Amino acid sequence: MTEAIHDFGQGFWTIRGDLKMGGVLNVGTQAALIRLSDGGFAMLDSYPLTGAMRDRVIQLTDKGQEVRVVLNLHPYHTLHCATIARDFPNAKLYGSKRHWNKHPDLTWQPEPVESPAVAAMFADDLSFFMPAGIDYISDNESVHAGSLLAWHKASRTLHVDDTINLIPVPRLLKRFFPKPRVFLHPTMSKALLPETGAVRDLRNWVQDMATQCQDLRHLCAAHSGLRSFQPGEFSQELLAAFRRIEDKLNKAQANRH
Ligand SMILES: [Fe+2]
Repeated sequence: MTEAIHDFGQGFWTIRGDLKMGGVLNVGTQAALIRLSDGGFAMLDSYPLTGAMRDRVIQLTDKGQEVRVVLNLHPYHTLHCATIARDFPNAKLYGSKRHWNKHPDLTWQPEPVESPAVAAMFADDLSFFMPAGIDYISDNESVHAGSLLAWHKASRTLHVDDTINLIPVPRLLKRFFPKPRVFLHPTMSKALLPETGAVRDLRNWVQDMATQCQDLRHLCAAHSGLRSFQPGEFSQELLAAFRRIEDKLNKAQANRH
C-alpha cells in the first residue's frame, strides 16, 4: 500500500497511510480530515504527514491553521499522536485515557474522546458509536477489538479502527467474493466484558449499527481497508459477520462462568 488521500465529497477526506510492522510488513493505517460545519477541520486519528500527502492537507487547511481538533479514537493507536500535535499546534487534542498515559507530555483536553461531552461538540457533523459488551481499553495489550467509531452523516462514511475490519479476499476466492469482506476483529471474544449479557449486548449493538448505517456508502477500516457499498449492503454484511462469530463468542462467555 502507498499513501493516498481520497475526497468523498461533503467535507470528508480519508487518509490511507503506511505503517510498517517491524520495519517490513506494511499493515497500513488510516486517518481522516473532516470539514466542520461551523468552520475549520477535524482530524480523526493521528498520522505523520509527509511529502504529497502533507502538501494536500496543508493546502486544504490554510497551512494547517484551520485544523481545530484531533480526535484519537483507538486507545491502542498511539504511535503518531506527538507528530500530529507538533504539526497542528493550534488543534485541541482529544484521546482516551490510554493516549493520555502514553503521551503525558502532550496537552490533552480534559474530556476523554469517548465522552458524551465530545460527542455533543461534533454532533452537527459526526456521530460516535461505542461498542457494547466489550472493553474499550482492554487490559490485554494484544486485544484491539474496542474502538470509538465515527459516522460522518453527510458523506455516509463510517471510519472505524479495528472493531470492524475489511479483509482482502485471496485470489482463488475472488470469483465468489469479489470485494474485501466485512469481519469483526479477531480478538472480539477476548474483549468480551465479564457480565453474562455481554454477547447479547454486543449483538444488540451490531444490530443497532446495521440500522444506523443502513445507507452507508463508504467504509474506511484500519488498517488498510476501503470499500464502497450500495445502500443496505453494508448492514447485511455486518450482520452476517456477527453471525459467523456468534458461536465463538457464546463459547468464550460460557468458559468464563
Ligand atoms: Fe490496530
